Amino acid sequence: MNQRRFLITGALPYSNGRLHVGHVAGAYLPADIYVRYLRAAGADVRFICGSDDNGVAALKTAREQGRSVEELTAFYNQSQRQAFAGLGIRFDIYGGTHQSDYVRLHERFSQEFFLRIYEKGLFTKRTSRQLYDVEAGQFLPDRFVRGTCPHCASDNAYGDQCENCGRALDQTELIDPVSEMTRTRPELRETRHWYLRLDQLQGRLSEWLAGKKDPATAGAHWRPVVINQSLGRIEAEGLPERAMTRDLTWGVPVPLDDPDARGKSLYVWFDAPIGYVSFTAALCQREGGSAEEYAAWWKDPDCKVVHFIGEDNIVFHAIIWPAMMLATHESGSAQGAAGEYQLPHNVVANSFLNIRFPGKDEEKISKTRGTAIWIEDYLRILPPDPLRYYLTAIAPESQRSTFDVDDFLARNNGELGNALGNFFNRCVSFAHKYFDGRVPDAGRRDAVDAEQLGRCAAAVQKVAAELEACHFKAAQGEMMALARAGNAYFDITKPFMSRKTDMAACGRAINVCLQTARTLTTLMAPFLPFSAEKAAKMLGLEGQFSSANAATSPRMPRPYELWASATQELPPGHPLGAAEVLFPRMDGAEVFGA
Ligand code: 2FM
Ligand code: ZN
Repeated sequence: MNQRRFLITGALPYSNGRLHVGHVAGAYLPADIYVRYLRAAGADVRFICGSDDNGVAALKTAREQGRSVEELTAFYNQSQRQAFAGLGIRFDIYGGTHQSDYVRLHERFSQEFFLRIYEKGLFTKRTSRQLYDVEAGQFLPDRFVRGTCPHCASDNAYGDQCENCGRALDQTELIDPVSEMTRTRPELRETRHWYLRLDQLQGRLSEWLAGKKDPATAGAHWRPVVINQSLGRIEAEGLPERAMTRDLTWGVPVPLDDPDARGKSLYVWFDAPIGYVSFTAALCQREGGSAEEYAAWWKDPDCKVVHFIGEDNIVFHAIIWPAMMLATHESGSAQGAAGEYQLPHNVVANSFLNIRFPGKDEEKISKTRGTAIWIEDYLRILPPDPLRYYLTAIAPESQRSTFDVDDFLARNNGELGNALGNFFNRCVSFAHKYFDGRVPDAGRRDAVDAEQLGRCAAAVQKVAAELEACHFKAAQGEMMALARAGNAYFDITKPFMSRKTDMAACGRAINVCLQTARTLTTLMAPFLPFSAEKAAKMLGLEGQFSSANAATSPRMPRPYELWASATQELPPGHPLGAAEVLFPRMDGAEVFGA
């Protein structure tokens, strides 16, 4: 069988802020679990991410903080890298759409993409009216203009939305608009932009999305929210043309020899997804090849592209980005012919997290209200795996869920500590105490032993099936069910009693426990990579696990197929490592400064 190939992306975070638990739970942790699993199962995978530097968000924050936008985005790009690395979210490349090492390649890819669509006649140039700040000498992005809401009369509405009544606005509707840049009153002027003819692509897009409704034919597992939001939107409103350029100089310059293109950039949502491609090209270069090798990941029907995103990004990843790719195609095929951009195999979206601190009400995560748990703060005091565990256990896979600090502590101490960690600890300690630190003989196994080993084999299948379907919470639940079954087996077979009367029976039970621990080590690896390495060390297997965790490269040997060996038994006499506490207790919510 050919090796399976996947290109996995995590939504590019805006580089105007730090990362909190909501970001991680939404896109990056499930993506990392998926990547680690696919690699362990023998697939050839590249995992791509980087910062989304262009557009108004970074410009606005830079202004507010009195820093240059270059400095700001470089700072947060670095902060994000560290946060991800600390959590074991290991991308093959972490680029940045305006970072010095990536910006040239990114501009080239973005401009070529734009030109290809332009040449295919799928842009229309249109004139619109927009607010212009005469003193600053520029058109105002929506977030740079405030005024009175025409619906509720709040005097604090932004150009795209009124924060008071929540209505979406067009900036030209604002009453008494004021520029956030100069505090002057802007005037309406005409400007010209290039609009993507989504109406021309709508038919093919709907056909492609409708095909994803049926998992059997799609061969993928699209979450209903992704299909319903995107297909529902097309069916309800159709797809009007959408401007893909902006009056802004911070971004990728519009690559047209046209006076109307002067001082304009590509819309940030046009260039950001192309970042996935340009960073892939940069990775190909870094692996010793040429940038053009990106095509092997993006234009080969044998490679599956999977995007991991937050729910607010669904329209862009399931409609606009696929439409952009379709617009470059020569063929009429919905998926893309060989040599053309392949539409995503899956777009995996999570909802958001609320948060509850002890003794307080549940709230939305908010930077301004101080209700966020920042990753870098967390990592200063606590280890990564308990957070990975908790965020997967409460993963907002179908609806909002709550990060409850008390629940986090309880699950660390109860589920991770008492169930999973304790299982390893009691088996390995026992073997050290009574079997010279080695795996005892299997002896003549009875039905109870066989049943437990059967549970191990079944768990490997179940966890794999859930992971293949991107059901991360359920997959982790199956792994934990095996840990609980291991403890129950230990309690039923009572090696602590038989050691006094029947050493062979005692050894048999400990042997089965250690085989269970061995299987668990593999099953833990995608979810709890740091602890899986420690567990592997306890079982005398560390070499195998660290190699399976490492990022792969085509120029490196094929990765060790960890998953296939999950039930390969530890032979009698196999030496174990020292027993460790995998998940130390955490006491008190003060760990979060609550
Ligand atoms: O919502 C966001 O954080 C965006 N910066 C995501 C961009 S994803 C992609 F298209 F690059
Ligand atoms: Zn309003």
